[in-house]
Amino acid sequence: MAREFSTVGVVGLGTMGAGIVEVFARNGIDVVAVEISAPALERGRATLKGSTDRAVAKGKLAEADRDALHERVHFAVGLDALHSVDLVIEAVPEHLDLKQRIFAELDRVCRPETILATNTSSLSVTEISVATSRPNQVIGIHFFNPAPVMKLVEVVRTVVTAPEVVADVEALCARLGKVDVTINDRAGFIANALLFGYLNHAVSMFESHYATREDIDAAMKLGCGLPMGPLALMDLIGLDTAYEILDTMYRRGGRDRRHAPVPLLKQMVTAGLLGRKSGRGFYTYERPGSPVVVPDEATPPATDAALADGARAIAKVGVVGSGTMATGIIEVFAKAGYEVVSVTRGMEKSAKVCEAVKTSLNKGVVRGKLTEADRDAALGRISWSATLDHLADVDLVVEAVVEELSVKKALFASLDEICKPGVVLATTTSSLPVIDVAMATQRPADVVGLHFFNPAPVMPLVEVVRTIRTSPEATATARAVCAALGKTGVLCGDRSGFIVNALLFPYLNDAVKMLEASYSTADDIDHAMKLGCGYPMGPFELLDVVGLDVSLAIQRELYLELREPGFAPAPLLEHLVTAGYLGRKTRRGFRDHSHR
Ligand SMILES: NC(=O)c1ccc[n+]([C@@H]2O[C@H](COP(=O)([O-])OP(=O)(O)OC[C@H]3O[C@@H](n4cnc5c(N)ncnc54)[C@H](O)[C@@H]3O)[C@@H](O)[C@H]2O)c1
Repeated sequence: MAREFSTVGVVGLGTMGAGIVEVFARNGIDVVAVEISAPALERGRATLKGSTDRAVAKGKLAEADRDALHERVHFAVGLDALHSVDLVIEAVPEHLDLKQRIFAELDRVCRPETILATNTSSLSVTEISVATSRPNQVIGIHFFNPAPVMKLVEVVRTVVTAPEVVADVEALCARLGKVDVTINDRAGFIANALLFGYLNHAVSMFESHYATREDIDAAMKLGCGLPMGPLALMDLIGLDTAYEILDTMYRRGGRDRRHAPVPLLKQMVTAGLLGRKSGRGFYTYERPGSPVVVPDEATPPATDAALADGARAIAKVGVVGSGTMATGIIEVFAKAGYEVVSVTRGMEKSAKVCEAVKTSLNKGVVRGKLTEADRDAALGRISWSATLDHLADVDLVVEAVVEELSVKKALFASLDEICKPGVVLATTTSSLPVIDVAMATQRPADVVGLHFFNPAPVMPLVEVVRTIRTSPEATATARAVCAALGKTGVLCGDRSGFIVNALLFPYLNDAVKMLEASYSTADDIDHAMKLGCGYPMGPFELLDVVGLDVSLAIQRELYLELREPGFAPAPLLEHLVTAGYLGRKTRRGFRDHSHR
């Protein structure tokens, strides 16, 4: 029989604590909510009220249930109020000495059988536990932000935590409607160990003006389907908390430079820019605690006006290539009303591409997204050719041939001879330096990267890559074209992986390393990222879809360009590729897909 928890205590009612109080009270458990001072207590009470009022407004909570919820919460200043609770969850700032002091005090105040839990994200639960006389009753219960919404709880057992305490807490998580993964005490547990290197990397992109905050966030939301971009997430977490987590992970997690907090973070924290809680972080909010972003001096001007500036008129577009990307890109341009010249290496290939475009457009008709007349008009705008000479009068060329530098360079040299002056020449490469391709022509100022995502007709994102030679007009033209296609174009520099792959693949690689170290299972890691961070797929699901060979190649490029030791491909990934386990396409990758 699992232990009954009828009253729990929560210490610290900040970003996490207030949400944790709500989780318990919503599930019929009485809560003693404790803060350090009366003003802090009032802030916590206001946060709880705001959150439950929003739930009522959204129709997710009945008014009577909200009132009952509030009646279950008893607010108090000081730990003494916790003398008779069954379980305490501590959610004070991420400092070891503070947490140790609080646990020593809790040990004195609470009944001997009370379980003491910490919501720490990165500190050692073991080190916290030894501040008490009952380390076997100390455990980590790591909720995710916002606690009432995110389904995951990481239950952290130390080498001394009693098995029945673990079992009782697991049963409690189930009662709260949460999914738990139980793991050992390691810096960052599962989710944060995989998340924070990525968040820090995104901050460094922003700090180095590689891309704007809006573009970094849009890239990860639209390119990977994440619920929010990394900088908006930093604001939600709180930059002071994020700084402490990174700092601890750096020190505890093997001094991986990717966890050394980017200097900008420290500056922002010192300046009081803590994110949503202070009303300003990477973005500016309506008021402290509000989720509503308001414009500030860094907000870009309304898209249309900005895009018209210097952009060249584009009516006719050449698309070179016959693969998946070229096929999708032809469809996208034709549907958006551009005249398209498709060039392949032979009429047989052209016939195949034409069939594929027709099939895809027909699907659109069947799904009611396109009328038959629109389909016919789109097809009527495409002409099919097997020679580059037909590109003499186009305004834009999009190249999507095989990912080999020599092939792309030769193609761009030919385009340079054939195309009229003023044409924008774009490559869809996902891993080669755009500047190498640009320098194969006599007009590098007109060369940009236009990195579409697969499937191009569906994915809303395009990365617009400008090299150190790209002219502002070519960049403006590329962005205007993205807008006309109904896509979000994000602008970035010419570095390996651009924005999305540079942020995504090291995280996937880290997940492989975590699996390899036997810290957790592929299922639990996938669960943690989906339920704790709202990712549409877990890392192993995604790796199997993308292909392990493709992932390894991208990771190698990133490693070679930046020489960042943490980017070295995981040996397990290399072995799986060598063994021919490439993912779904070979019916086996991290998982066996032969029966599905
Ligand atoms: N922010 C996140 O997204 C997140 C997610 C999961 C876990 N965590 C962890 O949760 C813990 C709390 O983080 P947070 O972001 O909520 O911090 P926060 O700064 O938003 O809130 C901390 C609260 O603790 C209170 N406090 C400080 N000293 C206290 C004391 N002696 N007694 C009682 N209350 C005290 C403060 O007044 C403040 O309200 C940290 O360990 C953090 O790592 C944070």
